[in-house]
Amino acid sequence: MGLLLPALIALVAAVIGGLYILGAFRKRQPGEPPLEKGPIPWLGHILEFRNDTALFLQRMKEKHGDIFTVQLAGFYFTFIMDPLSFGNIVKEARAKLDFNKFARHLVKRVFDYQPTDSDHELLHASSNKHLMGDGLEIMTQSMMKNLQSMMLHSIDSTTEQGAWKEDGLFHYSYNIVFRAGYLALFGNETAKTCGTLDKAHEVDRLESDKFFYEFRKYDKLFPRLAYGVLPPREKMEVERLKRLFWSTLSVHKLSEKENISGWVLDQQEARREMGMDESMRNRHLFLLLWAAQGNTGPSSFWLLLHLMKHPEALKAVRNEVEELLRETGQEVKRGGPLIDLTRDMLLKTPVLDSAVDETLRLKTAPVLIRGVMEDMSLKMADGNEYRIRQGDRVALFPYSAVQMDPEVHPEPHTFKYNRFLTPEGSKKTDFYKNGKKLRYYNMPWGAGVSMCPGRFFATNELKQFVFLMLTYFDFELKNPHEEIPAIDVKRWGFGSMHPVRDIQFRYRRRF
Ligand code: HEM
Repeated sequence: MGLLLPALIALVAAVIGGLYILGAFRKRQPGEPPLEKGPIPWLGHILEFRNDTALFLQRMKEKHGDIFTVQLAGFYFTFIMDPLSFGNIVKEARAKLDFNKFARHLVKRVFDYQPTDSDHELLHASSNKHLMGDGLEIMTQSMMKNLQSMMLHSIDSTTEQGAWKEDGLFHYSYNIVFRAGYLALFGNETAKTCGTLDKAHEVDRLESDKFFYEFRKYDKLFPRLAYGVLPPREKMEVERLKRLFWSTLSVHKLSEKENISGWVLDQQEARREMGMDESMRNRHLFLLLWAAQGNTGPSSFWLLLHLMKHPEALKAVRNEVEELLRETGQEVKRGGPLIDLTRDMLLKTPVLDSAVDETLRLKTAPVLIRGVMEDMSLKMADGNEYRIRQGDRVALFPYSAVQMDPEVHPEPHTFKYNRFLTPEGSKKTDFYKNGKKLRYYNMPWGAGVSMCPGRFFATNELKQFVFLMLTYFDFELKNPHEEIPAIDVKRWGFGSMHPVRDIQFRYRRRF
């Protein structure tokens, strides 16, 4: 009896503690957003959320309106679905809403990389220097060189003129853009190590192709890896792939390459100076590769596919491309010089810009997350204020909240290549909700402190790819009546969406 009572008390305390941890006692307090704890203790709504994030959030929005809190795998996320209120979250001070805490957690779990306190500053300093302004000029030239090499070798110049080559459009676009971007960022093999420059180019092409196939294996596993739901066999495969990426991209291998981007070099150098060990720096290189290469390939596929399915759009973009070539006195001839597509030329493509924005509006869907650092109140654009608890998370899903809102973008599911063009032909930035002008009307790059630092480079990559496709090749869908494949709904929240299946096309050199 003497021992029974303390044991009983300990058991009751453990059960109550467990229930507390599982969130069983959390109740909506006055002034807080509507609370949805979900059907399963602790897990909450995670299964429905993971199955189809957009569908789940739409259901919650219809039930609760523009703000609600849902439990997802032990965390409470408050979603804001009113784009007029986004500014208050995006611009909130870091002391209240912080991006780093959540990002560090994810990066550690998914990439085994332990970020330092200055990681974010280092990233933004090197991105400002090398992915924007004058630095972007160098990156764009490097991308151009590698893109031409990949594209023109995918169909050899000795191929009989007029002979068609067939491929899956998703596979082709992702493969070409991934390999060219990878080489532009992480550098080329040298004549010194390979014997001759031609041999070095060949090694670049072959090795980047092999690397792409391994990257795609990781890419396919990524959503379930990020949610922490991989079965043991696939976990082992992820471990194998990570080790392969760390060794392929290693600091040591990098030292044998040339034309490495300043973006990669500066970040490595800063970490070396801080005393970070080599294996951790190798992991960081893979993190950079993932951030830079996971979205651009799929986006280039959607861009080209939408243009192919909309002849009037393809014609308008083709006219722009041909006009620019005429203006700069360039002509494509068999055996003639390659196209010199400069950053200046890429600044004069409003029609292509609009087609890119429209593609990203339709096919890019990140979930943007901030950690709540202290109890705070959040003001919505309609004047209502809500209390948010420390330790919770605040999240935006702009795809549902604004990109697909018919009030902001009429016929939101239709690709309109000129949606982001004014009648005068310049960039359109006036979009309205409830009669108010929206600052955040299309958010493929996120916003605020975590806004994609590679957005200018990425936009150029997409434009270069389409420009060169139109210039060097004739191309068409194998079955022009085939429907655009649906989005794979298991990937909501991670950036550019993937299609559920590929779509066959054929292409041939125009000269
Ligand atoms: C179409 C292509 C791309 C899309 C749609 C895209 C989208 C995004 C989005 C939505 C975020 C913010 C995520 C968040 O707030 O949690 C992000 C972050 C990031 N992106 Fe991109 N991105 C693209 C291409 C690139 C490229 C080409 C690079 C580099 C060369 C790059 C580098 C990064 C990095 C380093 C971050 C992390 C930023 C941070 O931690 O503050 N991205 N990207």
